[in-house]
Amino acid sequence: MADLQQTKSKKLEGKVAIVTGGASGIGEATAHNFINHGARAVVIADIQDEKGQNVAASIGPDRCTYIHCNVTDENQVKSLVESTVSIYGRLDIVFSNAGIINKRPQTVLELDLLEFDKVITVNTRGAAACVKHAARVMKEGGVKGSIICMASALASRGFETSTDYTMSKSAVIGLVRSASLQLAGDGIRVNSVSPGVVGTPAASASLGVDEDHLDEVVEKFSRMKGVLRMKHVSDAVSFLASHDSEFVTGIDLVVDGGFTTPQDVI
Ligand SMILES: NC(=O)c1ccc[n+]([C@@H]2O[C@H](COP(=O)([O-])OP(=O)(O)OC[C@H]3O[C@@H](n4cnc5c(N)ncnc54)[C@H](O)[C@@H]3O)[C@@H](O)[C@H]2O)c1
Repeated sequence: MADLQQTKSKKLEGKVAIVTGGASGIGEATAHNFINHGARAVVIADIQDEKGQNVAASIGPDRCTYIHCNVTDENQVKSLVESTVSIYGRLDIVFSNAGIINKRPQTVLELDLLEFDKVITVNTRGAAACVKHAARVMKEGGVKGSIICMASALASRGFETSTDYTMSKSAVIGLVRSASLQLAGDGIRVNSVSPGVVGTPAASASLGVDEDHLDEVVEKFSRMKGVLRMKHVSDAVSFLASHDSEFVTGIDLVVDGGFTTPQDVI
């Protein structure tokens, strides 16, 4: 995957990380990126077992483990962080990335509230469970860790459709702001990344565009020339995971080629 080719560095040397939703898309790219930056080990947590096991095998059994974890089940999240500590001895980084988007328009007038519940349960409740249990084991282990949550460039704006998704990601930013304040005294940092549209399998499905034509659509969602790639997002996550951002907490790092930057309308 050309998107995953990176320069080797040591900025995450010795670190142990969890990536939820690591079986595919941005999570998969970030797991590889963490390893390329010298991480000692990455745990891939997902519900797509075969894909997750394949990602783990591609990184190598010495540095990567796949653990089945549905982030909507708090006990599975608790067990994920505890298993990571028991396998690798510590937990330094958690990228809470697992997320879904509804294929229905979900405008407010046509809001299907059962579908709404599913999106909120994975994207918001799942992130809260990850932050809760990651922070708990980091604090118990005296680790000054870094937790990064996946939000979205839509989170700070309204959107013509996807009301449930936009709400779920706005709530993630609220989670990050509150948790960062509560955990700063323990040296645990909590930040989020907010990508614009990235050409992942999920984006292809939700935009209804086949993968061969995805770049043409994705580049319309950036003011900078070019296409927002998974590597751009995983580089931002790796920055927030590393000592390069050691005094950065409570921020939402938008990675969207300027697409959602506010502008004067007159
Ligand atoms: N692709 C984009 O344009 C874009 C833009 C902004 C934000 N995001 C966010 O980035 C994250 C990753 O998206 P992606 O585009 O790489 O999609 P993707 O579908 O390729 O990856 C999402 C992963 O999350 C996993 N997952 C879903 N529900 C889960 C659950 N309950 N428990 C554990 N794992 C679960 C899926 O199995 C999948 O492997 C999501 O949170 C998404 O909302 C994506």
